[in-house]
Amino acid sequence: MYAILLSLALARAGLRPGSPPTGTLPRSRAERILVVGATGGTGRELVAQALARGYSVTALVRSASRLEVEHPRTTVLEGDVLDAAAVDTAVGGQEAVLSALGHKRFFYPTRILSAGTRNILRAMEARDAPRLVCATALGIGDSAGQMGLYYSLFTIPAILPFYFWDKTRQERAIAASAVEWVIVRPGVLTNGEKLGRLRHGRGIGSLLWTVRISRADVAAFMLDQLESDAYLRAAPGVAA
Ligand SMILES: NC(=O)c1ccc[n+]([C@@H]2O[C@H](COP(=O)([O-])OP(=O)(O)OC[C@H]3O[C@@H](n4cnc5c(N)ncnc54)[C@H](OP(=O)(O)O)[C@@H]3O)[C@@H](O)[C@H]2O)c1
Repeated sequence: MYAILLSLALARAGLRPGSPPTGTLPRSRAERILVVGATGGTGRELVAQALARGYSVTALVRSASRLEVEHPRTTVLEGDVLDAAAVDTAVGGQEAVLSALGHKRFFYPTRILSAGTRNILRAMEARDAPRLVCATALGIGDSAGQMGLYYSLFTIPAILPFYFWDKTRQERAIAASAVEWVIVRPGVLTNGEKLGRLRHGRGIGSLLWTVRISRADVAAFMLDQLESDAYLRAAPGVAA
């Protein structure tokens, strides 16, 4: 019963239709991007793949020693996403922000994802940084239930309810913002290699089965969103 109520509540909290998808970014492709969550699994892939695509990458990290990247087009800034001044400094001069922010404080209420994302959005609006691409998860908003039975009936309600509530607040903050946004909702993440074959869009996932995707493929799809308006102000699911 709790699982059903939680799923319904998450669905009710879903995104409302946004403005028509007209973006400014791909016209003059971004060159300078900020990666938040750069020391995490997806974040490391974002940094490596963005450098390979020719971007200049600034990484906002809590501890620079956790990111072993030495590249002339990389700048590492130490700071916490909950520190509005540090986020503002990191966003200054960027043309896009990619967020793979996450944490493991599952068992009590937190607002790290939503409060950190609000700091990012405020800085982007103040600094005219046009585009945010943010990873959340299948199971949020109108994708409620799409993580498969095991996650929908056990993992999300029993282990991740606080985390998913905060992800819901995070998505709502993004949808209400003035920036060009793309929310990317992956299935369960793996550390597998980049296959380059993935399914994306509304309706990805399954009521019955758990869908998965590698962090490397998620990162590639997130970077693709800097070069396309196809999912502007939309929240596609992604799965292998
Ligand atoms: N795991 C799954 O199966 C799954 C499925 C769907 C979606 N997702 C979502 O996909 C996203 C990426 O997941 P992941 O597993 O690749 O991430 P991850 O390895 O858990 O990395 C999270 C990143 O966020 C950073 N971070 C946490 N708190 C921060 C703070 N206060 N200030 C600045 N940075 C902070 C971490 O930095 P530190 O290194 O300093 O801790 C780390 O770089 C997350 O939002 C996750 O919830 C995960």
